[in-house]
Amino acid sequence: MWGFGFVRAPFSPAHGVVRAAAGESPHAVDARLPPAEGCRIPPRYGRRTALRRRSGAMTGEALRSTDLRKIYRSKGAPPTEALTGVSMVVHPGERVALLGRNGAGKTTFLRIASTLLRPTSGTIEVFGYDADRTPDKVRPYIAVVPQEGKPFFHLTPREQIYSYLRARGLGRETSKARTQEALDRMSLTEFADRLSITLSGGQRQRAMVATVIATEAPLLFLDEPTIGMDPFARRSVWESLRVLTRRGSTILLTTHYLDEADALSQRLYIIDRGTVLVSGTAEDLKRSVGGTLKVLLPEGAAEVERFRTFGSCVADGESLTVIAAPERLGELMDVAVRSHLTATVGPVTLEEAFLRVVGRSIHED
Ligand SMILES: Nc1ncnc2c1ncn2[C@@H]1O[C@H](COP(=O)(O)OP(=O)(O)OP(=O)(O)O)[C@@H](O)[C@H]1O
Ligand SMILES: [Mg+2]
Repeated sequence: MWGFGFVRAPFSPAHGVVRAAAGESPHAVDARLPPAEGCRIPPRYGRRTALRRRSGAMTGEALRSTDLRKIYRSKGAPPTEALTGVSMVVHPGERVALLGRNGAGKTTFLRIASTLLRPTSGTIEVFGYDADRTPDKVRPYIAVVPQEGKPFFHLTPREQIYSYLRARGLGRETSKARTQEALDRMSLTEFADRLSITLSGGQRQRAMVATVIATEAPLLFLDEPTIGMDPFARRSVWESLRVLTRRGSTILLTTHYLDEADALSQRLYIIDRGTVLVSGTAEDLKRSVGGTLKVLLPEGAAEVERFRTFGSCVADGESLTVIAAPERLGELMDVAVRSHLTATVGPVTLEEAFLRVVGRSIHED
């Protein structure tokens, strides 16, 4: 995480940490916590006139990329075109997910947006500031959970969160309160004062997310934030991110978990081979599949012709999936029974939408 090595002011984590540990109840901390301190939008966003940029265009976006391209060139290897012209917009207060298979370009996009990597061409603005040309203007307004980031092993989660907040310029009291709240939210209180090197993989990931959540930065980038977490911890992350957007932050995350994109994002972009294929709400994408029910016939592939009349059919090995409208379900089940096929019925999910848009499952090698 860039901020961990980016110290703007001298600080002494240990002092505040010890005091923060001195038995304040979470409720007491909550009561004192300013709703969105740290979530300061650049001053020019506070005023109407300020929204008008020099070009004369209105901008009220948290993030806008235009035709963003990235080609990785390394000696002795052919160039890799990781982004082939990505244009997207994220509005303030939104939770947006980037969904894509391995190597789709999600991390590359997040790294460019968070000023860690330079694009080959195209532009990217964060709150109206050019992230490539003026990274120093952008950095105070963002916080990042990088893919496979690790907490500092020689710090405890409490020390890590507190020192990160102090490094970002937050005061002692606010930092203590935010640290405790983030530890509580990520159910890390039990491990808060153990060196991170002694924590499990999921606990370390929770510490990473807690650190960034605690910043309440105007724009949070989270690259696969819940990877390795148990279902309970994943839900804690979702709830914390919802709270943050209610307080005014904006969130852009990547995920491989379709249920996560569905439950958490208000809008999502499906990316494949460096290109945005589609964007919209999860509901829009599910509707585009052409039916609301998914009927799985584990041995139905050989009988595909009998089911084509009910909706779109996808054969995979021996199994067949039919996307159907509810009003034709009875008829479809009659055909399945007459064909001696077992069938399982469920709602259409993002899995089918992804398959339709990308042509391959998100899990397929
Ligand atoms: N430093 C690099 N040098 C060369 N190629 C790279 C580099 N980083 C990424 N790539 C390539 O760029 C493409 C996009 O990678 P990226 O990490 O952005 O994908 P991703 O969508 O985040 O994938 P994953 O879901 O596996 O994390 C891939 O083909 C990858 O191999
Ligand atoms: Mg990635």
